[in-house]
Amino acid sequence: MNADKFIVKKSTRKLTGEISVMGSKNSCLKAYAAAILCDGDVSIKNVPLIEDIFRMQELIKSIGVLVKKTGERSFSVSSAGIDTCVLDDKIAKAFRSSIVLTGPILARFGEVSFPYPGGCVIGKRPIDLFLNGFMKMGAKLQSKEDDRITLKTKKLHGADIFFRIVSVTGTETLMMAAVLADGKTILRNAAQEPEIKILADFLNKCGAKINGAGTNTITVDGVKNLRGGIFNTPPDRIEAGSFLMLGALNGDRLRITNCQKDHIVSVIEHLKLMGVPIKIGEDWIEVSRPKILKPIDVKTREYPGFPTDLQAPFTVLLTQADGVSLLFETVFDGRLGYMHDLNRMGANIILCDMHRAVINGPTSLRAREMESPDLRAGLAFIMASSVAEGDSVIYNAYNIDRGYEKIEERLQKIGVNIKRITPQIKAESV
Ligand code: EPU
Repeated sequence: MNADKFIVKKSTRKLTGEISVMGSKNSCLKAYAAAILCDGDVSIKNVPLIEDIFRMQELIKSIGVLVKKTGERSFSVSSAGIDTCVLDDKIAKAFRSSIVLTGPILARFGEVSFPYPGGCVIGKRPIDLFLNGFMKMGAKLQSKEDDRITLKTKKLHGADIFFRIVSVTGTETLMMAAVLADGKTILRNAAQEPEIKILADFLNKCGAKINGAGTNTITVDGVKNLRGGIFNTPPDRIEAGSFLMLGALNGDRLRITNCQKDHIVSVIEHLKLMGVPIKIGEDWIEVSRPKILKPIDVKTREYPGFPTDLQAPFTVLLTQADGVSLLFETVFDGRLGYMHDLNRMGANIILCDMHRAVINGPTSLRAREMESPDLRAGLAFIMASSVAEGDSVIYNAYNIDRGYEKIEERLQKIGVNIKRITPQIKAESV
């Protein structure tokens, strides 16, 4: 954790040049979990050097996993030395995706004890889908004290599981658990995010038998063990989408490189409908601010719909559109809280309820002091501040560092006026 903050001033020029997309946070995190299923070593490449990944590394090290840096962005992970199935309270609560470790640990060692996971402040984040799935696969609730849960099983077995709600980490966790279970598991109403297919492809290369990943029905035939392998982290589609929105807000042929355009089709379509000029190359996308941004209605949805993780940056863009837009967040409750700060900056957003907002644009924005409530809203504040009059202060830079690597250095290069302030720690008097 750190107490850093960002100071952002209005950019004095249009954003130009190139900005490269780093490895996907939400894909890479799962590779560390998958490594726990493998007898052999796993080499993870193109790792984004961000706080959530560092927490994941710390957490698996604390149960005996060996994590070794083998290159600038490469790590080798060996699960041979795991000596406990108890996940540390403090680290696990620091990031929600710690929950994905439960499936592999339970499947491989027949036991897991974990605290209720923490993470971003984006509304209720229950874990009932995980627990129900594990129970169906034969796990028994050993104990449930305060907020720690312990599950045990002799051996997980296959099951037919229907997800009441589509869940990304729920799908990934139960898919990983099923890989080492006895028999066949069917996951119905599964999430279809690209990260799930990428994870399944990796596990299959290590010896798993997974079919249908990337569709809403996944079948897994359990195997005895998995060997190791190489996991190449794909580019982060949310980072790519955020940079595209920044370019649409204030870019002049801003080129986003190292993107996988197939993963952000819905974002590109929304931007095109707003009148944003977009040029697409093999692995790059160029974007500019149009004279007039057209308003548009947007509804977040599971993949391949518009991602909830881009809802906040997109709202910033909509504050500059010429007319009224309606935003409907359908994935999470309580992910619109940051809009109060945008209104303090001068935006005209009417919050209808926990899920819907009407955005009236265009409005001029003024600098404010604000606190980054979660990583995506934090990035949205940077975007808004980069077109606002005056000096904005964004506290809790840690929340942004959780998902974006050295964001200030990368944004400075394309013309964003941003700097990080790290508080001086006073030497203790002796
Ligand atoms: N849900 C339940 N019960 C459960 C699990 C989920 O009701 O047991 C509900 C959630 O409350 C939510 C809905 O299901 O309303 C969907 O949530 P999901 O489980 O899909 O979210 P997640 O798996 O916890 C992942 C990403 C999030 C991203 C969402 C949706 C990771 C590590 N996290 O979260 O990423 O917003 O899918 O796409 O993969 C981020 O990167 O900033 C981030 C929050």
